[in-house]
Amino acid sequence: MISSDIPDWTREHKPFFAWQPAKSLLASIRCYQRYNTSLLPWFCLIKVVAVIRHRFWSAVTGADIPLNCNIAGGLLIPHPNGIVIHPDAKIGPNCLIFQQVTVGSREGHNAPIIAGHVDIGAGAKILGDITIGAHAKIGANAVVLINVPSGKAAVGIPAKII
Ligand SMILES: CC(C)(COP(=O)(O)OP(=O)(O)OC[C@H]1O[C@@H](n2cnc3c(N)ncnc32)[C@H](O)[C@@H]1OP(=O)(O)O)[C@@H](O)C(=O)NCCC(=O)NCCS
Repeated sequence: MISSDIPDWTREHKPFFAWQPAKSLLASIRCYQRYNTSLLPWFCLIKVVAVIRHRFWSAVTGADIPLNCNIAGGLLIPHPNGIVIHPDAKIGPNCLIFQQVTVGSREGHNAPIIAGHVDIGAGAKILGDITIGAHAKIGANAVVLINVPSGKAAVGIPAKII
């Protein structure tokens, strides 16, 4: 079973010349965050390059995953177009996010906390101050407004646990 605690960084690995825009986008975010706190001039330059890479790959993929996002390692985004993630959302290790997914806040609420190894189906919207448990599955096009227990699946609008 895929771990919900220990990031599997091989899931984000991209061979050097491969055309995999989603992994290039993630690499720019990882690079920026690695050097974010350093004030050494060399690292500041790397950070600036990471910002430029992030803008380029964001435009190519059509994904809005901010540089200051809180996403643990091992994220898979096979079709990154239309993915929007709130900067305050927390996403655990080894999650899988399909196209057109939104992880965001509702008016006056905080952003979701998603545990490790959660698979989020295409078009799903996860909104507000809610928690998605480890190994949960979110159905395609679900609109999730309630907590989802570990290992359960949520489908429909508004989403119900099945
Ligand atoms: C949510 C999901 C993981 C459930 O898979 P599962 O555990 O095998 O569940 P089942 O297929 O047995 O379906 C269980 C019930 O939920 C319903 N259901 C499944 N997925 C649903 C969805 N996305 N929206 C609404 N209902 C759904 C089924 O119709 C079934 O209802 P029933 O019991 O009344 O017949 C899966 O259906 C899903 O949506 N995966 C996302 C896949 C995806 O986004 N792929 C994109 C590839 S590019």
